[in-house]
Amino acid sequence: MIFGAILAGGVGSRMNISDMPKQFLPLGDKPIIIHTLEKFLLCERIDEIYIGVHPNWLVHMEDLIQKYVKIRKEQIHIVAGGGDRNTTIMNLVDQMEKDFGSSEEHYIITHDSVRPFVTARIINDNIDTVLKYKACDTVVAATDTIVTSKDGNVITEIPNRQWMYQGQTPQSFQINLLKKWYYDLTEEEKAILTDACKIGVVRNAEVRLVRGEVSNLKITTVTDYKVAQAMVGGNLID
Ligand code: CTP
Repeated sequence: MIFGAILAGGVGSRMNISDMPKQFLPLGDKPIIIHTLEKFLLCERIDEIYIGVHPNWLVHMEDLIQKYVKIRKEQIHIVAGGGDRNTTIMNLVDQMEKDFGSSEEHYIITHDSVRPFVTARIINDNIDTVLKYKACDTVVAATDTIVTSKDGNVITEIPNRQWMYQGQTPQSFQINLLKKWYYDLTEEEKAILTDACKIGVVRNAEVRLVRGEVSNLKITTVTDYKVAQAMVGGNLID
């Protein structure tokens, strides 16, 4: 089976314009997370959709689904998120396996709730790639030169831009492979390896690349939110 996993367990501390986590803020005529959810609902290859929501916002998420979703409601499952992004993913995996059992044929397409402009092409490319290679990450080629600095004051390195990409989501995995990677981590590693694909990369596993889009932006700051509002033709917020 192919499971969509929408990650909405965060509180959006870098946005800091509302008491409400950023995924619930309005974008045009509906909340950000509903735009994201719709992209997954419209992909018929995805069998079930799990949403990992901050424990304080479970009822709100349920209300939003009742209000905005008209199709495939019985295939949407709301689950309490965890203290960090990977824990939210593993909470979703646990619930998927409680509901549908464990299988070598189970795949998860994880996606940030705050990337509402993901396209059908990107989701389909993730599905094709994960079915073939078991793990993939969505990326765009870096356009800015990437500068690294270990102390934040002096340049450590300027890597060749030709090899630099910026990570987006979806990130997709065969579920059994992801579980093996994650449960092999020490508690210390779990605290450092906050990116799901990085767990595979540190094991020298092959994580394939899927081409993203610059428009598949993550709403992290107020500026990102303004850009997103402009993209849907809505009013700019101050
Ligand atoms: N996320 C999650 N569970 C967590 C933390 C984050 O599901 N415990 C999700 C967020 O809801 C978001 C995505 O991961 O959709 C990307 O994370 P980020 O943009 O960092 O979101 P926040 O953690 O909410 O933001 P901030 O770091 O500014 O607090």
